[in-house]
Amino acid sequence: GVTRHYTFDIKLQNVTRLCHTKSMVTVNGQFPGPRVEAREGDRLIIKVVNHVQNNVSIHWHGIRQLQSGWADGPAYITQCPIQTGQSYVYNYTIVGQRGTLWWHAHISWLRATVYGPLIILPKHNVSYPFVKPYKEVPIIFGEWFNADTEAIVSQALQTGGGPNVSDAYTLNGLPGLLYNCSAKDTFKLKVKPGKTYLLRLINAALNDELFFSIANHTLTIVEVDAIYVKPFETDILLITPGQTTNVLLKTKPFFPSATFLMMARPYATGLGTFDNSTVAGILEYESPSLHSVVPIKKPPVFKPTLPVLNDTSFATNFTTRLKSLANAQYPANVPQKVDKHFLFTVGLGTNPCDQNQTCQGPNGTKFAASVNNISFIQPTTALLQSHFFGQSNGVYSPYFPINPTHWFNYTGNPPNNTMVGNGTEVMVLNFNTSVEVILQDTSILGAESHPLHLHGYNFFVVGQGFGNFDPNKDPKKFNLVDPIERNTVGVPSGGWVALRFLADNPGVWFMHCHLEVHTTWGLKMAWLVLDGKLPNQKLLPPPSDLPKC
Ligand code: C2O
Repeated sequence: GVTRHYTFDIKLQNVTRLCHTKSMVTVNGQFPGPRVEAREGDRLIIKVVNHVQNNVSIHWHGIRQLQSGWADGPAYITQCPIQTGQSYVYNYTIVGQRGTLWWHAHISWLRATVYGPLIILPKHNVSYPFVKPYKEVPIIFGEWFNADTEAIVSQALQTGGGPNVSDAYTLNGLPGLLYNCSAKDTFKLKVKPGKTYLLRLINAALNDELFFSIANHTLTIVEVDAIYVKPFETDILLITPGQTTNVLLKTKPFFPSATFLMMARPYATGLGTFDNSTVAGILEYESPSLHSVVPIKKPPVFKPTLPVLNDTSFATNFTTRLKSLANAQYPANVPQKVDKHFLFTVGLGTNPCDQNQTCQGPNGTKFAASVNNISFIQPTTALLQSHFFGQSNGVYSPYFPINPTHWFNYTGNPPNNTMVGNGTEVMVLNFNTSVEVILQDTSILGAESHPLHLHGYNFFVVGQGFGNFDPNKDPKKFNLVDPIERNTVGVPSGGWVALRFLADNPGVWFMHCHLEVHTTWGLKMAWLVLDGKLPNQKLLPPPSDLPKC
């Protein structure tokens, strides 16, 4: 591989959408941020320079960071943030991965405006396991807030209530023609007839899972989270925050005199408020010749049909169709035996308010979200540093609870969990432990689906279901042959998923809901994977410019 250098200047930029102009944090003044491109085996050296008042850090979502955990990026987990006027060089090699990933800020809600595609091409002379596309187009979904997102999150934390929702969804930063004042800010995909396009879809939205479809065109799913899948056709797809999906789009054989909209809008199961609007872009065929097509009248505009807001059966059918390629070239190395079994509950709850505080959460409480009833408290120094230098005392506890004392029953009255515990507790694993973890949604304030993301690993999704996981019955139905491998999975609303991974990457690895509001409320935890005995099984020492807290 080769070494590729990038510079990310974190700076303020005025950006106008929906007729509102705001000064916001960007990379190099771009929104969305610059595309990072590399090949499998390359080394990336990305210098991030902070010119704004906010603390920043950047995460390379889905990159395994083998032995290079210092470059992973979540603030206070693998590094202290980069402070005003400081810089940090993220230096890592892409080992055994190719496909669509992305990068984003990983501190507070800065990722609302600080994100971009990270595209890993296969090695030279290695082709895709599908037809060579005529063109490749990244399409990144986002959310636009007219107000400052840092103000929104700090207000929510102070009042204990739900934050304000976004004002629009965006495609490559553009809200599109269905919003007021946005017709000129519409993403256009210009295509030629009779070609195959590879669309690299990325959901960078803060808080919403999205349905996506293109009118009168079928999509072939070929990859999710930078893992090839057994191709299948669909008119509509579902993508949660944190996930990526590559699809092939075959254009009509002849120039159609019509315009086709592509649209995305939320899939939502919870009780809370959310942005229930629709982003649209245009699929536009380039006229074969300027003379042959004389537009007599305006061509018709076709719109796709998207599922209803809470269409969980669509979500289930779609996700259960995803299977790893699992062939000789791209095997699915599913752990067949398990050393450690875990069951983690994930869900929302509430905490009592401090005295003198007026809280806007349910019944005067404040929102808290938890894993095994622990709402994660962000430490004031980075966990990886404390671990590496043997200074964990007072920073974190290595006793993440393994037996949740509250196993909720979904069929009866949902119990009212108003006593979520708090702490900075990590789950310690020996090197090369084969792990199975059941993520069980809880219905404390109404069930809700949660896109759980694990740093530093891909996992295999060996099973999923509704209701409570049954340890006697459900494992018999696990798929240990060709389950989908990914880094972010939707825990079904009122259900569970079963994941397996081999803990072969030493370091501290964040796991959290990729709905930013749930992360803020504490739906996050960290795994600490210890070093192995061999030199290539150890976390390397930190770079000298690692930021200090
Ligand atoms: Cu894409 Cu921890 O995040």
